[in-house]
Amino acid sequence: MNVRQFDRYEEMSRHAAFAVAAQIRQKPDSVLGLATGSTPIALYEDLVKLYQDGLISFRNVKTFNLDEYCGLSTGHPESYHSFMEQHLFSKIDILKENTHLMDGCAKDPAEECRRYEAEIAAAGGIDLQILGIGLDGHIGFNEPDSNFSADSHMVELDASTREANARFFNGDIAKVPTSALTMGMRCIMSARRVILISSGEKKHEILKKALSGPVCPEVPASILQLHPNVDIMFC
Ligand code: PGA
Repeated sequence: MNVRQFDRYEEMSRHAAFAVAAQIRQKPDSVLGLATGSTPIALYEDLVKLYQDGLISFRNVKTFNLDEYCGLSTGHPESYHSFMEQHLFSKIDILKENTHLMDGCAKDPAEECRRYEAEIAAAGGIDLQILGIGLDGHIGFNEPDSNFSADSHMVELDASTREANARFFNGDIAKVPTSALTMGMRCIMSARRVILISSGEKKHEILKKALSGPVCPEVPASILQLHPNVDIMFC
């Protein structure tokens, strides 16, 4: 595990963006696992710049997002479909059919998760997975006490996660969905390379637990200690 601390968010984001760009240049048809939330926003801005400068192309790249809220239509402004469209997909040359997110309104969530896993497998698995980390140590929406070998599934969101994300819903926790579909730990751990980015001192304590505490379901991100190729970048 490579762990690197940066003084500034912008510096960390550029470093992460360069790692993604290096991956795409080396393998133009890379399969990327993508994250949402406030942390990867500058990373996506940097990727857009690298694309605009002609240094990378997403023409043959495929993407799979970690998670999606249940009950939000794809066009809802706070859906992760909308987030990805706004921050990345609408600004680069990726083909719409190569971008994948789970459908949070699927009638049969378990079937939707199975379909998603099958699509990832058909794409050849994830080359590079970007992760954020929640204040409770979640990765994707795998909350504490998640099964480390779970496939993608539906989860009830912890109160602390809904509280943290209320800022995206005009501060109104009642508007934050109570459940979500998430890539399972097995899928995340199957990625050939993982980059976890974390911004802000308030996450230092959970990061320390995840990186040097016991590997245990109470701290979901601690499973990354058992991944052979993971970079932790934090500021
Ligand atoms: P954040 O979310 O980037 O908005 O802090 C991270 C996460 O919950 O994974």
